[in-house]
Amino acid sequence: MLARGCAELDGAKVKSPIPDYLQVVVDHSSYDNPGHNASYISELRDADPNRVGACLSTVDGVVYAAGDTDVEFTIQSISKAFVYALALEQNGLEAVLERVGVEPSGEAFNELSLEQVGTKEIADGYTSTGLWIRRRSGNSGPLETDTRRPLNPMINAGAITAHTLIGPAGISADERFELIRKGLSAFAGRDLGVDEAAFESEMNTAYRNTAIACMLRNYDLIDVEPEDVVKAYTRQCAISVTARDLALMATTLANGGVQPLTEERVVRPEVVRQVLSVMMTCGMYNGAGDWVSSVGIPAKSAVSGGIMAALPGQLGIATFSTRLDKHGTSVRGVRICKRLSDDMGLHIM
Ligand code: DON
Repeated sequence: MLARGCAELDGAKVKSPIPDYLQVVVDHSSYDNPGHNASYISELRDADPNRVGACLSTVDGVVYAAGDTDVEFTIQSISKAFVYALALEQNGLEAVLERVGVEPSGEAFNELSLEQVGTKEIADGYTSTGLWIRRRSGNSGPLETDTRRPLNPMINAGAITAHTLIGPAGISADERFELIRKGLSAFAGRDLGVDEAAFESEMNTAYRNTAIACMLRNYDLIDVEPEDVVKAYTRQCAISVTARDLALMATTLANGGVQPLTEERVVRPEVVRQVLSVMMTCGMYNGAGDWVSSVGIPAKSAVSGGIMAALPGQLGIATFSTRLDKHGTSVRGVRICKRLSDDMGLHIM
């Protein structure tokens, strides 16, 4: 594996200008360091705000890195894109759509919200637009097109639902978590561990996610106990990665579902298409419009300061810098991604 700007040409290592350029972009992003570390998880609050790194990896497996790209941090919400992919791979699109929608919420990532589309006297099943309908109360109650699905899998409500779709029915929360950890490891091409301290910290105050899980359980969107799913979902968020891991995970998506180094097919191309579409419209929550218009690459952010972006057929990008904007997205990470997109013409439009 070649790294830091070494490309191989006829067996000879050739110096590429990309790492020097990447270092300039990273340095330039740091003319100041505004924003705040996430404060609701003590490991994130206390993380060094001066660290900054960017990693870019091509679909043929060449990795370019500048700055703090080997520092481990918790994957947090970036895990949502990969768990959604695994849920689609295992259950198929229709089954997942029954439980989780694909509409941008325009709300914060931890909003307690579900889809509501009105009431209508029609038979149980699917509407012409594919929405799942159900009875409000028992067999004799009015039928409604009120799906009550979480709007998308990138907000916590959708992510917690997608989490429960992993693995065969009846497995324990620990077994499900292990399937998820292994699945994310396949995307990264190495065995990923868990930051137990960050997990414990988030669990200490996970009241909001517990409320979301209770809401989901109330509407039969999940069929496991709220406390169990919140614990396993929080462990999912505490999986440890580096910017290099995230770049390779993004590149697995950019590469149609095949990990560029291990060459393992992790998910099918149609799964990747669905995941990247939802990342494009929902990956940045209520900052999605700004991101799509200015950077224009399907991406996912995390409160730990990571951003990963996947440009289909070309490359994966990951950045790490802990200070966040009002949407919970890394300020310097956005700067780096915007600069790369502008300079290299990566905007997909
Ligand atoms: O569930 C939570 O609140 C966190 N474990 C993850 C949130 C997150 O990363 C939001 N993204 N910007």
